[in-house]
Amino acid sequence: MAPEGNYPDDATRLQVRQVTHQAENINSYELIDADGGDLPSFEAGAHIDFYFRDGSVRQYSLCNDPADKDRYLIGVLRDINGRGGSEALHERVHPQREVFIGTPRNNFPLHEEAKRHILLAGGIGVTPMLAMAARLQSIGADFTLHYCSKSPRHAAFRRELAPMIAGGRAQLHYDGGDPTRGLDIEALLKDPEPGTHLYYCGPPGFMGAVSKFSDHWPDGTVHFEFFSAAASPKAKLTEQEFDSVSDGTVGIGFQVQIASTGALYSVPNDKSIVQVLLENGINIEVSCESGLCGTCLTRYTDGDVDHQDLILDDAKRKEFFTPCCSRSKSRVLVVDL
Ligand code: FES
Repeated sequence: MAPEGNYPDDATRLQVRQVTHQAENINSYELIDADGGDLPSFEAGAHIDFYFRDGSVRQYSLCNDPADKDRYLIGVLRDINGRGGSEALHERVHPQREVFIGTPRNNFPLHEEAKRHILLAGGIGVTPMLAMAARLQSIGADFTLHYCSKSPRHAAFRRELAPMIAGGRAQLHYDGGDPTRGLDIEALLKDPEPGTHLYYCGPPGFMGAVSKFSDHWPDGTVHFEFFSAAASPKAKLTEQEFDSVSDGTVGIGFQVQIASTGALYSVPNDKSIVQVLLENGINIEVSCESGLCGTCLTRYTDGDVDHQDLILDDAKRKEFFTPCCSRSKSRVLVVDL
């Protein structure tokens, strides 16, 4: 039977098997195939798009062991100041309920070849780290997970983490709401050991602190994921400031050219490349529209992209960009469409 609601045609229909109260305002949701089948595999660090009936979509990290074949686990913090997705989940998603999701995608992969891994989680940022820790454990890698939280009441997934805590692989740090009383991030990151990679995820203040204290780490060894565009330093700027930071050409747009046809379209400062292309009959699939999910990822062949995403590394940025939010520093940007 066709579902009631505004879901994409290729959405996967799953069933909620279990909802678990994990910590204050944090629930986990275990999703399965109602017929007991296997689910598409995923890598540690991956997320899924979670589709809501009204057509909105949110991204949630998968936090179970990627070796699990038949279930996905997500952890959701109820954010009363958010865009409503987490509240809807907390209020309306119960066991047996049917939900619609997208195929897992990974913008936050592990670099398994590293000699050692430090996983740093703040609050609900622990969700991708749980999958990463499980994977590192299963391949016998050397790692430590540091989980920073306000108090035991606020720390989710403690039961899942217990074996790792007992084995010395995970540490919980409670600060009582005062970060100066919690983990000394500066000391932890002061002397990066060769071959060590750092991964971090958490709320804006936490992200800022880890970014600052890992600034001197070697290129390519520090990896992070934001929860939402609101956590991005640039997203805190006013629109006018954002434009200045984005392209340095306030008041001047640019043109995007379609490589296959040579067609040129002007992109004014108040529209995204995706919007302009859509107005001209060229549809690029989008999801987050904030440079967080990678749905709109597109190859470009010429021009100087002003990358505004939060997911691509320097190597990928030489070839790809996110037209939902990125701009152009050159007068013309040629896209491989
Ligand atoms: S739509 Fe999510 S990165 Fe562009």
